[in-house]
This record gives sequence, C-alpha cells and structure tokens, in this order.
Amino acid sequence: MTRALVFDSGVGGLTIADALRKAAPDWLVDYAADSGFFPYGVKSDEELRERLPRLCAALVDHAKPDVLVIACNTASTLSLVDIRERVKVPVVGTVPAIKPAAEQTKTGVIGILATPGTVRRAYLDDLERQFAVGKTVIRRGSAGLVDIAERAVRGQAIDQEQVAYAVKPMFDPPDGPRIDIVVLACTHFPLIREAIAAACPPGVRLIDTGEAVARQAVRVAPQTRRPEGEAIAYVTGGTANKAAMTPAFARFGYAQIEVIDV
Ligand code: DGL
Repeated sequence: MTRALVFDSGVGGLTIADALRKAAPDWLVDYAADSGFFPYGVKSDEELRERLPRLCAALVDHAKPDVLVIACNTASTLSLVDIRERVKVPVVGTVPAIKPAAEQTKTGVIGILATPGTVRRAYLDDLERQFAVGKTVIRRGSAGLVDIAERAVRGQAIDQEQVAYAVKPMFDPPDGPRIDIVVLACTHFPLIREAIAAACPPGVRLIDTGEAVARQAVRVAPQTRRPEGEAIAYVTGGTANKAAMTPAFARFGYAQIEVIDV
C-alpha cells in the first residue's frame, strides 16, 4: 500500500486528496494543512521561500509518505524546486492548467483565477510563453475567494455577492467578455465551484487540476508494501486550529487529526 501526503495552506488541497483517493483507491492519503501560516496567497515570496522547504521536510520526516503532493498553486509556483531539493521522496506540484485551457479555448481568451501571490509569479509568465502563444490570458487574483472557500468547508454559508465581487472584474478588460474558459488556479476554488460559475457569464467553463495532479502522483509514486492503517490529517498552529479544522477534515473522511508544529 502506498502512503501519500497531500499538503496545502488550508482546506484547498482536500480537493486534490479526493481526486487522489479516486485515482488510487487502495492508497492511504494523509493530509497536512499549514493553518498556522494560512493564507499563503498574501504572504511575501521571502516568507514563503523560507518556510515551505523547511515545513515540507519536517512533514515528510514525520509522516513518512512515499510521495508528497503540494496541493497548492501558490506554493508550487514559487518553491517546487527548493522543496524537491530538501525531501527524499518524489514531489508532485500543482500548477495552473494553462496548457489544457489554451488547447480548449474557442475564443482564444482564457481567465486565470488564483491567489494574489500566484498571479504575479514568473512561473505563470513561463507557462504562458510555453503553452498559450497567440492566446489572450487575463489574470485575476483574489484572497477573498480563498477565505470564502475556507469558511464554506467549515460549514459557513457562501455569500454569493462577495463571490461576484471577486470574480466579475476578470471580465472587465476589453477582451474579458470573450473569456470562454476560466482556470481555477487555486485549490480552494473547486470547493466553491458552483458559486464561482454563477458569478461568471453563462457558457464559461471552469477547469481545475485535481485529476491531472492525482494521475501524476500515481505515475511517480514508488510501489511499496506497507502495513495498513488509518489516514491522518496534520494541522499546524496548535490545538485551536485543530478544533477549527475538524469539521472540514471530517467532511473529507479524516477522523484522526494531529497537531504538528514547525
Ligand atoms: N490553496 C492555495 C493555492 O492553491 C492557496 C490558498 C492560500 O492563499 O493560502 O494557491
């Protein structure tokens, strides 16, 4: 049995953990939420660069996975290389699905909905240069949507007006009304997919990376034979965060929750 560790700043990576469980039903999929340092999307690059490799190394040391999945675009687009250098297991990242969006758009205009951190990354410029030549890409960063998703999974109602306030400006630039595909480039966003879809003009399609990341994890994970056990959810930031995260973890099938402090 293969043991995976899926990691994000909060609840967003649970969408990837779900996709991984579907792709590899016999795996144990552990989860780690860096709730003590949430949200990543408004942190400086320096802060994240300092924390992410160190945190991932500590998590891998503790949880001993066969594969580490960075289920966070904000972290992957900044620190994937540094994390790979620090840990000894295969590391799978999550990056915006620009390639499939560029292949599938009919109008030639795609929207990227992400955190404020992800939209300013050089990594995104590279993806566009590589995969979206001749296409128009409109980026929209929102920390508010991350917050709405985080609270929704913990059981709070979604305020559709706030979602619209965050999403609508993506369609304001001259080419905005021609957007036919929006890339959900933050793993929190599939958790409020219906609300985001309702804030977009009719006919706009939303795509995310959950299944692609899960497939990649299955491809790179070494085959191991390990004793069976229960999947564990780890959380940083002390027992208050454990209590706050328990409903979200429960919804995704995690009963065993451990506080880990880094
Ligand atoms: N879920 C993360 C992502 O995919 C970021 C959320 C946050 O701002 O912490 O980018």
